[in-house]
Amino acid sequence: MEYKALCFGFFCILFAYYVYIPIPENIEEYWKVRIIHAGMEIASLMATLFESMGLMKFEDIFVMIMALQNTMPVSDENITVIDTELSDIPVRLYLPKRNSERQRPAIIFIHGGTFTAGSFKMHCFDSLNRETANKLDVVVVAPDYRLAPQYPFPAALEDCISLVKFFLQEKVLAQYGVDPARICISGDSSGGALTAVVTQLLQDDPEYKNKIKAQILLYPALQAIDTLMPSYQEYEHGPFLSRKVAIMLSCLYLSDDKQLAKAILKNNHVPEESRHLLKFVNWSDFLPEKYKKNYVYTEPVLGKLKASYPALADSRVSPLLANDSQLQRLPSTYIVTCEHDILRDDGLIYVTRLRNAGVPVTHDHIEDGIHGAVSFATSPFYLQIGLRIKEKYIRWLEENL
Ligand SMILES: *[C@@H]1O[C@H](CO)[C@@H](O)[C@H](O)[C@H]1NC(C)=O
Ligand SMILES: *[C@@H]1O[C@H](CO)[C@@H](O)[C@H](O)[C@H]1NC(C)=O
Ligand SMILES: *[C@@H]1O[C@H](CO)[C@@H](O)[C@H](O)[C@H]1NC(C)=O
Repeated sequence: MEYKALCFGFFCILFAYYVYIPIPENIEEYWKVRIIHAGMEIASLMATLFESMGLMKFEDIFVMIMALQNTMPVSDENITVIDTELSDIPVRLYLPKRNSERQRPAIIFIHGGTFTAGSFKMHCFDSLNRETANKLDVVVVAPDYRLAPQYPFPAALEDCISLVKFFLQEKVLAQYGVDPARICISGDSSGGALTAVVTQLLQDDPEYKNKIKAQILLYPALQAIDTLMPSYQEYEHGPFLSRKVAIMLSCLYLSDDKQLAKAILKNNHVPEESRHLLKFVNWSDFLPEKYKKNYVYTEPVLGKLKASYPALADSRVSPLLANDSQLQRLPSTYIVTCEHDILRDDGLIYVTRLRNAGVPVTHDHIEDGIHGAVSFATSPFYLQIGLRIKEKYIRWLEENL
């Protein structure tokens, strides 16, 4: 009996500890955010525990939770939804049924999930793409690229590039009745990283230059150089996405070597010979004053890692490492950043750098937003803020594509 009481007490304390989080009291739908966060904390605790017991790998639990949200393709009165393959990449297509004389715009949507989990099949992404296709009478193509750690960088990127290039062929666009002058690439979180990189690479390729009319980045991850920017410190423990979980999972895209994850957590992973890249992600130069607060810029410690990871210095991993002459070629861009998000500063810095380079940027900073907000725009965990971002997203497309 006493033993049971002890165990019960232990778990209560554990639970209380994990439910307690520094969520600002004034955040909208405080309790819902708290529950979402507690769920994530418990998942991450289990991931750590099960991994140390040798039962499963750290990422497995997140893969499983996200896969629970997968849906089948369901058509409705306005759109045909099918799962198929384009250029050997699995995709879900949303094709409007209405007869139309005009060619339709198209959106290629690249889902998030830290490069290790997630699918276009997830309820949240399916409903975003469905609503976009339905409300705007546009074609939506959502690819499932290969995931880490089984397929590390550049597999995901290669899949996205190959899908986009395949889709951009004249005969394919004609088959779906798509207007070649009105194509947008969009993505959230790690999908935002892939979106930004795909857009940069296509712009740099004479054959594909100016074929993308716009890009949309929803709370994107844009660099793997400095993991102690102000937002990474301020929102280290979430809500929802903690710095540790974000790094442990997304690091697998670069390597499944635990030494790298440890170094990135300490922010001493960048090699000495990459010093010249620091200027591209120097938050002290690019973050608006309001977000700097009392943080003092300190350079990441260089040259601590013995092994070499060329991907760390690659702008195809960290699109913020592109120089100004590469950035100035980019198309019209819509960026959503959330205040309560470790990735806030990645997005804010890209906004500044793109604007400095003369790229037309629409930027919405969501004061009440948490990372992944659009993933909480469907029941049972919907947040008003998720619904509002979804509305903004659709409105921007309506006005700009
Ligand atoms: C189909 O389109 C009509 C007209 O735009 C709209 O009223 C209806 O809600 C749409 N159906 C679905 C399932 O979204
Ligand atoms: C970062 O920016 C600050 C302020 O402009 C500057 O003092 C510092 O030398 C910069 N550091 C690097 C590595 O670019
Ligand atoms: C920008 O980067 C590209 C690709 O790495 C390079 O070819 C070009 O010379 C760079 N431009 C400047 C001004 O540094």
